[in-house]
Amino acid sequence: MSSPFSYRGGQLFAEDVAVASLAEQYGTPLFVYSRSHIRNQFRALAAALSDLKPLICYAVKVNSNAAVMATLAAEGAGADVVSAGELLRARRAGIPANRISFAGVGKTEAEIEVALKEDILLFTVESEPELDRISSCATRLGRTGRIAIRVNPDVDPKTHKYISTGKKENKFGVDIQRALQIYERAAQLPGLEIAGLHMHIGSQILDAQPYAEAAEKVARVCSELKARYPTFRMLDIGGGIGIQYRPDQAPLLPTTFASAVAPILKPLGVQILMEPGRVIVGNAGVLVTRVQYVKRGPSKQFLIVDAAMNDLIRPPLYQAHHEIGAVRETSKTVFGDVVGPICESGDFFALDRDLPAAQQGDLLVVHSAGAYAYTMASNYNSRPRAAEVMVEGARHELVRERETFDDLVRGEHIPHW
Ligand SMILES: Cc1ncc(COP(=O)(O)O)c(C=O)c1O
Repeated sequence: MSSPFSYRGGQLFAEDVAVASLAEQYGTPLFVYSRSHIRNQFRALAAALSDLKPLICYAVKVNSNAAVMATLAAEGAGADVVSAGELLRARRAGIPANRISFAGVGKTEAEIEVALKEDILLFTVESEPELDRISSCATRLGRTGRIAIRVNPDVDPKTHKYISTGKKENKFGVDIQRALQIYERAAQLPGLEIAGLHMHIGSQILDAQPYAEAAEKVARVCSELKARYPTFRMLDIGGGIGIQYRPDQAPLLPTTFASAVAPILKPLGVQILMEPGRVIVGNAGVLVTRVQYVKRGPSKQFLIVDAAMNDLIRPPLYQAHHEIGAVRETSKTVFGDVVGPICESGDFFALDRDLPAAQQGDLLVVHSAGAYAYTMASNYNSRPRAAEVMVEGARHELVRERETFDDLVRGEHIPHW
């Protein structure tokens, strides 16, 4: 899929809007999202998997902006949520409750009750005590909790260890060897309906092989469950499809993913759910930032920008690579780092690289900032969170206001004593 960010006449455009004009109007740091790209990615995934007709539950944690979710809701997406906050956000953006699955290892009673009252499609259950809790909440409310147990297929997705979730040493899911036993237990609990099985092996996976391996393993369990429980009808294969962060990196194409898993999943005759996030929004966004100072060190230059690790924490958290581009095209480069103003050595976007030769006041963009960026933002160093803008063709609109000082101190007080 081609990028929605391209140069025209030496200026970077987001679809048909000059990024410099967005920075002028809305200020920096600024997240800019392409609506067409989000929609195209969703459609490409749906088309690649058309044989399976999956319910695509967008992973809200990846980018929970209402405008992003409303774009996907209009395409017929469901949502994969991991908290009551995400659930209510998804509902507010127009995603129907019967397309929402609720994952996560630590669901509280209050969160389970919200989900039961909303009558969501599915709880993906991560442990036996969680089964007990959903059962007792459902019984108390006179509701039914539809459940899919998350099994851990113990495959190596060959990704960063912080985003690998399907190995036996990870906190997620239950041991695949014990899955049938745990389903038996679920069948005995009141207020539950055995609806399906869930897996999610990790994120930013670039190779289809681990998916095929995991699908083979869970397919065997699914066939057994289908034979045992007449209500068993869904298999949720999670998210994780990897995208291109570096120019030399090959993304996992939806078509490659589909060819690896569809032949294994189709014969099961169950409704397939999936929970993609990054592949839909990752390359739909950039973080626009202005150079505040150029500091010349003995061996390299530091481009000190007005965005920081509180806006995008992926480089220090996951040693993640993000391409850095200039808003005004240049072929000149300098060697060095792009760093933020936060008092941490971990506050960087790029280290020891050839960078666009930017001067004080110039605009840079951090690419691939649509996923796990704003949703992981914080107020560290008392920095207000950035604004977010959506573009479509020549249109653009502020879809989240920049935080203010009042936002920073809201709800905080000094004891009268
Ligand atoms: C349970 C679950 N589903 C879906 C996702 C989305 O993953 P991705 O953005 O890699 O598609 C995640 C993220 O790690 C997750 O934990």
